[in-house]
Amino acid sequence: MSMMFDSDTVPKTVVVQGLGFVGAAMAVAVASAADTNSAPCFDVIGIDLDNPAGNKRVNSINSGIFPFETVDQSMIKGTENCVKRGNLRATTDHSVIGKADVVVISVNLDISSIDGTTPNVNFAPFKKAIHTLGKGVRKGTLIIVETTVPPGTCVSIIRPLLDEHLAKRGIDPGSVLVAHSYERVMPGAEYLDSIVNFWRVYSGISVQAANQCEAFLSKIINVKEYPLTRLQTTFASETAKVLENSYRAVNIAFMEEWGRFAEEVGFDLFEVIDAIRMRPTHSNMRQPGFGVGGYCLTKDPLFAKLAAKELFHLDGHEFPFSSQAIKINGEMPLVTLGKLRKHFGGSISGKKILLMGISYRQDVGDTRYSPSEKFTAQALREGAFVSPCDPFVKYWNEMQMPVSADLPEPETFDAIVFAVPHNDYRRIDFNLWLRTRGNYILFDANNVLTNNQRSILKDMGNTLLSIGRG
Ligand SMILES: NC(=O)c1ccc[n+]([C@@H]2O[C@H](COP(=O)([O-])OP(=O)(O)OC[C@H]3O[C@@H](n4cnc5c(N)ncnc54)[C@H](O)[C@@H]3O)[C@@H](O)[C@H]2O)c1
Repeated sequence: MSMMFDSDTVPKTVVVQGLGFVGAAMAVAVASAADTNSAPCFDVIGIDLDNPAGNKRVNSINSGIFPFETVDQSMIKGTENCVKRGNLRATTDHSVIGKADVVVISVNLDISSIDGTTPNVNFAPFKKAIHTLGKGVRKGTLIIVETTVPPGTCVSIIRPLLDEHLAKRGIDPGSVLVAHSYERVMPGAEYLDSIVNFWRVYSGISVQAANQCEAFLSKIINVKEYPLTRLQTTFASETAKVLENSYRAVNIAFMEEWGRFAEEVGFDLFEVIDAIRMRPTHSNMRQPGFGVGGYCLTKDPLFAKLAAKELFHLDGHEFPFSSQAIKINGEMPLVTLGKLRKHFGGSISGKKILLMGISYRQDVGDTRYSPSEKFTAQALREGAFVSPCDPFVKYWNEMQMPVSADLPEPETFDAIVFAVPHNDYRRIDFNLWLRTRGNYILFDANNVLTNNQRSILKDMGNTLLSIGRG
């Protein structure tokens, strides 16, 4: 494969460990990096576990197909192009780690129980990934940790585990460098762009590691327009990731009580928020909605509390705002359910609900920890029937339900709940779909519908319930 590269510019080999939503995207971003002659800078090998999900992701990449549903054409084309020209492939054979000049760790680190107060991280699979690296990595390799971890993990967990293996193998621990640079990747229309054209924070356990990490990232990221930010320690960059996601989660949770107020009093909170957002200092104010899902905001705010206790053995660092945010955000979908229940006189038993949107965010097919899951599970427990509809999901793995992409006949449903602001929903012609009949109950639970759609629905005589609006 490297025959196609000029011998003076033999590309460095980069192994991306973990081909999930982050690792698969990062592998494409790294493989797409090219020098001024348009020659690829890196030979990229993605690795994943030898299990059905891992093999599916590996096989998909090797066929030139990005392993997740995406609307981002540059990600789709980028995967195809890099595989075709031979500098991107994937495998479950972890011995390729021995070839790596750079390893990017993009494996998951899960919290096994989320109740808002007692975070419990299952470190075992993550540590296994580090053991695999320790056994295979060669002298001179730079390891960059992208996984979101409790602050302190690089120094107190990763470095000692690696060193233990390196010592056994007679390799000078100092010759394998450890850096940390977290992802801000956003699956969606700008998926690849959210890596390449976006600001990045990084740090190294040593200055040498930080320098090498900077040199590596500078080849992948458009650093002219999006300069890198170096932090002095990995504690700081690990904390930066956890703090920025906690900030967002708290900001969302804060808006919930204002949503309830607006609904009771009978005004439009979104109008209020838009007015406040005109102030540059308040431009990122969040809004009430159907719920918070996805793999990150539902867990990251718990990492600081966990780190304080388990890695630094500190008392008195409970991070109550972060814990409270996880709890409030987790209960958001039940607010919509409660309002439906109230509307139906105290019970939804036997009611048929059409649920519009089951992914955790607009225009993506990722259903992990989606608020729709909590809503549906509870609705089913209460005896309702839920029909999921989503243009980005064919089968709902978590609920084991088939999903319709098309708008079904509306007559059969007692309520239609708009849960995810997919762009497709903002283009629905309600006069056409509902055939101008006005006896439907619609629930805009996430500021999904446009003002125009809302007034059409009302003019038709439908009942329109909302989160954040009276
Ligand atoms: N999803 C996002 O949008 C996002 C954004 C920023 C940061 N992050 C963080 O990035 C990390 C990865 O997230 P993700 O969404 O890609 O998770 P994911 O679960 O989709 O992917 C993780 C992958 O790692 C693989 N894996 C686990 N152990 C492995 C091992 N020992 N060797 C090789 N592969 C292994 C898994 O099989 C899986 O395919 C997490 O820490 C997450 O919090 C995610």
